[in-house]
Amino acid sequence: MLEQGLKDGAKVFGLATGSTPETLYQELNKSNVDFTNSISVNLDEYVGLGKEDKQSYSYFMNDRLFDTKPFKENYLPDGKASDLDKECEKYNEIIAKNPIDIQILGIGQNGHIGFNEPGTNFDVETQVVDLTESTINANKKYFDNIEEVPSQALSMGIGSIMKSKKIVLIAYGLEKSDAIKNMIEGSVTKDVPASVLQKHNDVTVIIDKDAASKLSIFMVLPFQQI
Ligand code: F6R
Repeated sequence: MLEQGLKDGAKVFGLATGSTPETLYQELNKSNVDFTNSISVNLDEYVGLGKEDKQSYSYFMNDRLFDTKPFKENYLPDGKASDLDKECEKYNEIIAKNPIDIQILGIGQNGHIGFNEPGTNFDVETQVVDLTESTINANKKYFDNIEEVPSQALSMGIGSIMKSKKIVLIAYGLEKSDAIKNMIEGSVTKDVPASVLQKHNDVTVIIDKDAASKLSIFMVLPFQQI
């Protein structure tokens, strides 16, 4: 899908971090895909972590993808910016200058996309968010202990995510099954941020059997290269 996107002229890729896109990035690293003329714009970064911090999303992206597959330009919010509000404005300008052709999304167990937690307005742009207990718990596996998980992050807003031309949401595992059901079959509500995707006209959802297990109808299709 990303390869096809590149062939079709996609220039700007919105990228996600976390465990979900790891296999995607491994496959891309093994492939012949060439991103040297592409631009990446990531969804989020922890407040207080910089690119040298192993738990930062900047470090993650270099390690998992950019070191092997260089892009023309890579953008992530700067978690160490001294003025976070200014950093949000700066990031909005970056997104406005580089409209996203294909946005890759994971989903939180609580239905968050990016780090837009339940209750976030659908029209927000980049903002400083307080991470919920559910998100901190889900992400503690990357840290030595839970106290080290930052309590805040900078996140691209839902308004910006919804402006992406094409969205690909990926989810694996039983712990995502409620979020997937609510996203696809529930009503569009701020309580489930991902439910807003029902209003986007080009969303592909790639899920495994476990993540799909609470949907009322689902078909298992053979693996397709993404
Ligand atoms: C990460 C991001 C988050 C994650 C979500 C799922 O950049 O924006 O929305 O996609 O928290 O995380 P994993 O994939 O670790 O289950």
